[in-house]
Amino acid sequence: MEVDTDNRAAVEGRLEEHLTLPLLAATQAAAIAAQPWFGRGDGKAADGAAVDAMRRVLNAAPGEGVVVIGEGEKDDAPMLYNGETLGAGGEPRYEIAVDPLEGTRYLAKGLPGAVAVIAVAERDAMWSPGPGFYMDKLVVGAAAKGVVDIRLEPEENLRRIADALGKDLGEIHVFVLDKDRHEDFVSRIRDYGAAVVEHPDGDVGGALEALMPGSGVDVLMGVGGTPEGVIAASAARILGGDMQGRLAPQSDAERATIEEAGFDMDQVFTLPDLIRGEIMFVATGVSGGHFLKKPWRNAGHYWTESLVLKPGGRIARVVESAGLVST
Ligand code: FBP
Repeated sequence: MEVDTDNRAAVEGRLEEHLTLPLLAATQAAAIAAQPWFGRGDGKAADGAAVDAMRRVLNAAPGEGVVVIGEGEKDDAPMLYNGETLGAGGEPRYEIAVDPLEGTRYLAKGLPGAVAVIAVAERDAMWSPGPGFYMDKLVVGAAAKGVVDIRLEPEENLRRIADALGKDLGEIHVFVLDKDRHEDFVSRIRDYGAAVVEHPDGDVGGALEALMPGSGVDVLMGVGGTPEGVIAASAARILGGDMQGRLAPQSDAERATIEEAGFDMDQVFTLPDLIRGEIMFVATGVSGGHFLKKPWRNAGHYWTESLVLKPGGRIARVVESAGLVST
């Protein structure tokens, strides 16, 4: 993948300058729009509300963003479309990876774990997975950067991570999505002596945990969505962690379309393959959890908690009043 160097010069520092507040406003709007659907059992409606709210804010943002990762296709959910152009126009020109409601099922069931998330990068900097819905992922924080290789047996990677972190194997906590496809994989990790933290959904959150020291998770392993993979990669780049991925089709039809599109199933995508250049990442809590609170109402306003990751690994946790409560 070639990076458009002219565009790189044009956007240097400008994504942060122009987009910090609009991105924050976009994830906050999605989080608030989803609130009426909390615990209502209707994930699609919640997704639709979050998508519409995010699109409205992004359309008013400065510059011109093109959606490269518009999560939704796999589940036939409402989405921001791949190739859709958003923004008021002009500079900066950038790419968008978005998941207005990551952890839709959590929100629908009234459980913690859903977040609204967006990442942006300069043009031609994000990997597009094409028709690939699923990928195998390996995400570690900065302390284990460079020691893992997704082609190795999981046991070997776990041993290397434990060495890099100066921990016993028994102290290593591995985030794995709780899915049937991981049954044998999880047994293998446990047999080897590491602990598995299983969540039914939300591997962007899992990746963030793997990337943030002190979260209680040391590594994310296993198969999840490709859109979530690119979003996780943006956080990994900013936070100085490491990530590798490989397409992992979950049906014959998916495999066939990927092959037709000319993707190499064995290719290992490293962090620079997945995303490059100046990147920003913003997430706002939607249904609560230990990372980001669910929006709450106070004095006629909604308040939200967000995480803003800026170039150079700068992290801001933003708690602010994000809009009038509509009644
Ligand atoms: P959405 O809530 O955005 O649909 O994604 C939830 C999620 O659990 C992701 O975190 C994960 O990458 C993907 O779905 C896994 O897909 P599946 O549930 O089809 O295995």
